[in-house]
Parts: sequence; C-alpha cells; structure tokens
Amino acid sequence: MLTETGLPENKVPVIRVPATPTKANKGGSIFGGWIMSQVDIAGSIPAEMRAKGPIVTRAVDSFEFKKPVFVGDLISCYADIINEGKTSITVKVDVYAQRIRGADIETIMVTEAKLVYVAIDKNGKPRALPEK
Ligand SMILES: CC(C)(COP(=O)(O)OP(=O)(O)OC[C@H]1O[C@@H](n2cnc3c(N)ncnc32)[C@H](O)[C@@H]1OP(=O)(O)O)[C@@H](O)C(=O)NCCC(=O)NCCS
Repeated sequence: MLTETGLPENKVPVIRVPATPTKANKGGSIFGGWIMSQVDIAGSIPAEMRAKGPIVTRAVDSFEFKKPVFVGDLISCYADIINEGKTSITVKVDVYAQRIRGADIETIMVTEAKLVYVAIDKNGKPRALPEK
C-alpha cells in the first residue's frame, strides 16, 4: 500500500539521497551505475544487520530500471530480506524517485532489484548466519 506521497506505507527507506548533476549522463538522466551502487548499499544494510557481521555481494539475481531518474529527483531505497540460506541472504530493493512539479510531488517507482549477500568470516570464506 502507498501513502499519499506515493511512497510505501509503514516502511522506512534505508537510504534517501538526491540525484545531483554529477551523477547525470550525457542525455541528462541519471547514470544507471550510480543507481546500482545505491541499490547495492541499500541491500547490504538489512543483510549486514541480519548477518551481524561482514557480508559481500555474491550475486545480482535481477535488476530492472523501470523508469528514468532525473537530476533533482530525491531517491528512496526500500530493502527487505526475502530469503535466507545457510550463509546467504536475498534482499529485494525497491527504489522510488520523488520529483517536485510546481505545488505537487510526483512519486515514481523507478528500479526493482534482487541481490544475494553472503556472510563471510575473517578469511573471506562463507560463514553460517547466526541465529535470529
Ligand atoms: C562470497 C564468496 C565468499 C562465496 O564463496 P563461494 O565459494 O562462492 O561460496 P558458495 O558457493 O558456498 O556460496 C555461498 C552462498 O551463496 C549462494 N550463491 C552462490 N552463488 C550464487 C548465485 N549465483 N546466486 C545466488 N546465490 C548464490 C550459495 O547458494 C550459498 O548460499 P547458502 O549457504 O545460503 O546455501 C565468494 O564467492 C566471493 O568472495 N565472491 C566475491 C564477493 C565480492 O567481492 N563481491 C563484490 C564486492 S562486495
């Protein structure tokens, strides 16, 4: 369910960051690689909390740029754990862009991704997830 602002209800974004001109590509929209890095950072937050220690990104299962992001948009990344294995955590990240248009704020779902993180030990080897 979405709120009046168009953002998901009863959820807190793990990251909110403005899309500034330094992140734009030649065409004036925001470089996809910058959005990918924000998504990876966002997904790592619940994964690291769950793993209670270091994690690495193991795989990007899916990544969809559904709508463009433009300079001046405020992006909000929501990240939820959707699966856990012995050492791995799969996180779904949804990204919304908010765009001020006169007196209105337009909210657009722009990106959706699923990433797999693996908990690692001090030698960089997979580590079993701790009990919840
Ligand atoms: C993460 C790493 C330590 C895992 O080592 P590995 O020998 O591949 O370990 P495994 O094959 O046992 O896989 C570990 C877990 O990842 C899962 N996994 C492996 N490949 C996967 C893939 N392509 N997609 C989804 N999950 C995958 C496995 O199912 C396993 O999960 P489980 O323990 O919950 O069942 C190693 O691959 C690595 O160091 N990768 C580089 C990470 C990195 O530098 N990331 C970028 C910067 S953070």
